[in-house]
Amino acid sequence: MIWLGIESSCDETACAILRDDPLEILSNPLYSQIQEHAKYGGVVPEVAARAHLEKITTICQKAIDEAKISLKDIDAIAFTRGPGLMGPLLVGASFARGLARDLNIPAYGINHLEGHLSAAWLTEQDLEPPYLTLTVSGGHTELVVEEPGFKYTLLGRTRDDAAGEAFDKSGILIGLQYPAGSTISKLAKGKNRKFHNFPRALKNEDNGEFSFSGLKTAVRRYVESNSPEFIQENLGDIAASLEDAIIDSLVAKTIWALKKTGFKTLIVGGGVSANGLLRERLGKYCESHGIRLAFPTLYNSTDNGAMIAAAAIRRARAGMLPETSTEVKPWLPLAI
Ligand SMILES: Nc1ncnc2c1ncn2[C@@H]1O[C@H](COP(=O)(O)OP(=O)(O)OP(=O)(O)O)[C@@H](O)[C@H]1O
Ligand SMILES: [Mg+2]
Repeated sequence: MIWLGIESSCDETACAILRDDPLEILSNPLYSQIQEHAKYGGVVPEVAARAHLEKITTICQKAIDEAKISLKDIDAIAFTRGPGLMGPLLVGASFARGLARDLNIPAYGINHLEGHLSAAWLTEQDLEPPYLTLTVSGGHTELVVEEPGFKYTLLGRTRDDAAGEAFDKSGILIGLQYPAGSTISKLAKGKNRKFHNFPRALKNEDNGEFSFSGLKTAVRRYVESNSPEFIQENLGDIAASLEDAIIDSLVAKTIWALKKTGFKTLIVGGGVSANGLLRERLGKYCESHGIRLAFPTLYNSTDNGAMIAAAAIRRARAGMLPETSTEVKPWLPLAI
């Protein structure tokens, strides 16, 4: 069975071709709209929708060409139905449905977050729920228990900004370009993580909640009370201190959730799961506590088409594919 996965919820136009049984990613190209949005310091929904419209046919054709298949070989389509930006979601869903109708095949709407949590499964297919999951992305930061049958229970999420948003907004305040997560991580390498003590809100509270908006304010105050030259001269150390604060909060609450639930498997997904410090620190804890830890590949950590097809394949194998007539939903939590 050949699947086409389509992701268009935010600022990546992504398509992938996957073969199931045995599972193989035949192609997974994407067009990143970073340059379109960088000058605005964040994603502009209208600009994103237009860029998806311009690129989606090209990226889909690229996925087909790289997979060395033809259009008529596709048996089913999986597209992101939410959560995400309305315009971008509509572009992907309309494209998927139109193509499905032409080819007389089904098109299934997939939850983007279930996609992120299925990305690690692409490399470790023996992962079976129940387990603890941590989603850390541009729009989400949450600890969720996944049980068989795609049943999700929320342990805690961010009260305000997401971890990726904290990287991006803090980065812009210290003069970096959107999206700043991977830039901060690169600048931080080998630098002094104790250079400045940025706040770790809620870190010691007995719950699974996060908060990053105070960090943003602290960074703004820090930038205002120091000269531009000082910030520039110490950019590496400031980036390292920032990264330390964000990752420290994520790791502390994940350990809280592991202790609380007793799960021996942890799955991480979302763009911030590409972060080396997060991988290193969770890796250390899990190794010393006999916990299996699964991350996606670096490429599959951020938005891509393969993770959407992966979620559909997991559901197909379990006989739990969604209805084909689903609407797009900008707000679509995995668990409330
Ligand atoms: N190495 C890294 N370290 C820290 N953050 C990173 C790294 N690489 C990417 N990110 C962050 O990941 C985010 C993008 O992730 P992703 O593509 O999953 O987000 P999104 O799809 O926009 O949000 P969501 O999945 O919540 O809808 C950005 O905020 C970016 O800064
Ligand atoms: Mg995402």
